[in-house]
Amino acid sequence: MSSEIRIFRGLDELSLGVAERLAESAEAAVKARGRFAVAFSGGSTPREMFRRLAGPDLTERVPWASCELFQVDERAVPPDHKDSNYRMIREELLTQVPAASERVHRMRAEISDLEVAADEYSSEIARVLAPEAGAWPRFDLILLGLGTDGHTASLFPGSAGLNEKKRWVIPNFAPRLGVWRLTLTYPVINAARKVVFLVAGEDKAETVRRVLDPREPAGSLPAQRIALADGQLEWYLDLAAGRHAPGAGVPVDAPPADAV
Ligand code: 6PG
Repeated sequence: MSSEIRIFRGLDELSLGVAERLAESAEAAVKARGRFAVAFSGGSTPREMFRRLAGPDLTERVPWASCELFQVDERAVPPDHKDSNYRMIREELLTQVPAASERVHRMRAEISDLEVAADEYSSEIARVLAPEAGAWPRFDLILLGLGTDGHTASLFPGSAGLNEKKRWVIPNFAPRLGVWRLTLTYPVINAARKVVFLVAGEDKAETVRRVLDPREPAGSLPAQRIALADGQLEWYLDLAAGRHAPGAGVPVDAPPADAV
């Protein structure tokens, strides 16, 4: 696994940087394999990034008709609920771009039996990504966020999902929140060609430091267990979240030193 850290001045620059990375990854995947299979996290940070990706500067670059759009995780709420990840992705991206509706794969986390929802979503991933027998499904890109407690996807500290080694999608109970979620598991995330962490804000700086610090006890934070078998791990941070990160010197979007 190779990894890279890119630091941007603020949320706007960071959001544009990630959106550009998504667009170029989509172009490259479609050119190489005829399809771009991506899974999006929810939460609040990606909202501005989705807006940029759907914006006039980038949307024309994305081969939307060849994109398979999945979710990383979902709250156990209806898709029009204020807390729904799908609702946010739909409002900021799906209603703004010509994605093929049959290629938008929503997690049905609102149904009463989350085990059924998990198995249903695993079957959808199998149908679309069609991995070889016994192999993990391989996404071209998985977009992850980071909680201040070190969770990513809906893999929370102290949750049973941290130990899942066989299933692709599971219901997972978040002990501190006292809620159920649906989430991709570590084996699927770690099989991806590329994982991009999108993290912003001062409140995440210490967590980012702990996740990236090799001196931290291994596995003490869920996000530390994102370790790609054969892929590229990329951290996209704003200055506030990345102030303790290695190479936190000059943000990548800063003008060249000799700029006037
Ligand atoms: C979710 C996300 C979750 C998110 C982190 C960070 O369902 O909330 O998938 O993993 O990425 O909690 O969320 P913020 O971007 O809102 O800080």
